[in-house]
Amino acid sequence: MESPTPFPPTFLWGAATSSYQIEGSPLADGAGASIWHRFVRTPGMVRDGDTGDVACDHYRRFDSDVALMKQLGLNAYRFSIAWARVLPDGRGRVNAAGLSFYERLVDRLLAAGIQPMATLYHWDLPAALDDRGGWLNPDVADWFADYASVVFGALDDRVKLWATLNEPWVVTDGGYLFGTLAPGHRNVFEAPIASHHLMRAHGLAVQAYRAQGRHQIGLVVNIEPKYPASDSAADRGATERAHAYMNRQYLDAALLGTYPEDLREIFGEAWPQWPAEDMALIRQPLDFIGINYYTRGVTRHDESSWPLRASRVLQKRATHTETGWEVFPQGLTDTLVWVRQRYGNIPQYVTENGAAFFDPPTAEGERIDDPLRVDYLRKHIAAIADALRAGVDLRGYFAWSLLDNLEWAHGYSKRFGIVHVDFATQTRTPKASARYYADVIAAHRRGVSVGAAR
Ligand code: BGC
Repeated sequence: MESPTPFPPTFLWGAATSSYQIEGSPLADGAGASIWHRFVRTPGMVRDGDTGDVACDHYRRFDSDVALMKQLGLNAYRFSIAWARVLPDGRGRVNAAGLSFYERLVDRLLAAGIQPMATLYHWDLPAALDDRGGWLNPDVADWFADYASVVFGALDDRVKLWATLNEPWVVTDGGYLFGTLAPGHRNVFEAPIASHHLMRAHGLAVQAYRAQGRHQIGLVVNIEPKYPASDSAADRGATERAHAYMNRQYLDAALLGTYPEDLREIFGEAWPQWPAEDMALIRQPLDFIGINYYTRGVTRHDESSWPLRASRVLQKRATHTETGWEVFPQGLTDTLVWVRQRYGNIPQYVTENGAAFFDPPTAEGERIDDPLRVDYLRKHIAAIADALRAGVDLRGYFAWSLLDNLEWAHGYSKRFGIVHVDFATQTRTPKASARYYADVIAAHRRGVSVGAAR
């Protein structure tokens, strides 16, 4: 069925990836090690001992990967830059060979008519900076801004969309509170400090961009809308805490210059009093917000759940992905509309959205059918169409992910790609979801929507 499209002709239809998850060759051409290079070498941290040493070998195959994007009709691609390729020690000496990889990638994208969106930090902090305390050291904000300046200087003539950080919540929650992601700390006193310095780094990088950049810069956050499991005051309170911790902590700071009061209650004596000038630094005018959306959280009060006293209630009748996340497309519309209501009509991009589902093993050359992922995409594209109709200034959508890749602590066991990767041969095979997405994009070019009905 075809119907008029609510998507503007300038809408970006893209896919997203990140450096450590796809590139491989982590130490090639003079690059320094990152905290992920170390984390994967600590037994027990990553499933099956998987590493990003080879990953999708994108560092050497980027040319054919860009050709694949073009074949699918993507007009945008979101990738991240590995800080330690550009500055092997995290600061100081620039490694021209590392920087040149991203220059070649960007040139190739532009030649293919694909608009690049570059993220400066997608979790791979240079190990040399971790040795100095990493995100716990207040100087990290300056180190980040210096790194950002080097990259802006090299690429802003060609890259028009920049993101400072990817998901500061995950960096802190996984890296410093629960220790499930690099650098693997589990310390309630460290988490608020790491968070705050991430946001100071964001603020300083945006300032650096205003001094030398000519295009647009924003912040990428992961938002999981929270809905109370019941009407009880206890469940509603728990929902507010979960929402403040995961969603408002970063957007309130970046866009309003405040942290939610609830964080004081959640972290108790571990929550520091931050100087007002830090908050002014963190609140920089932004050109857009990037929203990564995967699922929602139905929340109940739970005294045993530390430190939020809130836990997730399993929705037994719903479809769940391989990472255990409920498929809930309405939450994407709700999220985009909530951002507009709370923070004003700032331009938004859906910078990640996708699902891990089990893809049956297939022989070379066989079609890969992934009906659940097709359904996930179809419903979430319908959800963004609803957000556009509700007046959200949504400018693009990036499927996570272009390729099956290293899903962090899950190793290669969870496949998010719309393109299948055979990790033994590095063969890429577009799945049915990629073919579906290509059809949606092609129809949009003709000014119609296909298959978006729910
Ligand atoms: C991250 C990606 C990750 C994806 C799926 C997001 O939190 O930005 O790196 O692979 O979710 O878990």
